[in-house]
Amino acid sequence: MSFHENNPKKIFSDEWKELQNAVKDASHDYHLMTLSTSTNDKPDSRTVVLRHVDKKNYLLSFHTDTRSPKYNQLKNNPDVSILFYSVNKRTQLRITGNASLCKDYKLLESKWMSMNKNSKECYLGEIAPSGKIPKGEIINKVVIEEKDINPLTGIKNFTRINIKIASIEILRLHHLGHKRLFCNLEKNPIDYQWLAS
Ligand SMILES: Cc1cc2nc3c(=O)[nH]c(=O)nc-3n(C[C@H](O)[C@H](O)[C@H](O)COP(=O)(O)O)c2cc1C
Repeated sequence: MSFHENNPKKIFSDEWKELQNAVKDASHDYHLMTLSTSTNDKPDSRTVVLRHVDKKNYLLSFHTDTRSPKYNQLKNNPDVSILFYSVNKRTQLRITGNASLCKDYKLLESKWMSMNKNSKECYLGEIAPSGKIPKGEIINKVVIEEKDINPLTGIKNFTRINIKIASIEILRLHHLGHKRLFCNLEKNPIDYQWLAS
């Protein structure tokens, strides 16, 4: 990626490549994203892992527990804001979109079956995510025992949320002048607009 690149389509497609790379590469700056939802008109943000990108349909996906507050917030209001920042590339992606639940149960099952024990345990806590832990305890107990050999235990709490992207704003910082490109994906073809930074 070059600072001298001024072609909006090229900049847009380069950023999608970075997002695609980030799914597989845990050390990529875009592997983690800040997801903001709203609850009673108040913003709520947290970090989640980028699990899948689909450039053709402008989708980003993450995994979560169906018992978590964010899941219920998204059911009430699917509008989200997502933020990525690459320290290495000095680039911020500011995304707006709309969340929906993955209904592809075959895919969910295959993702679940490919997860290791530690990852599965994130969905097997006795207390739902963000619930209060009783006095005298610190760590949420896992409700699975060695004798429980059913590999699908816990899958009922596991889901994938897909975000249909409405817009991406790409801000590239540079000492010679920051470049800020707004990409409206709701227009066909995409509407590109340079913004002051
Ligand atoms: C590095 C990092 C990665 C995380 N990844 C996820 C994730 O992919 N999915 C998820 O539901 N929570 C993830 N979390 C936990 C959330 O940030 C959050 O604490 C938790 O899901 C409860 O959020 P809620 O109360 O808003 O639902 C991650 C936290 C960190 C620090």
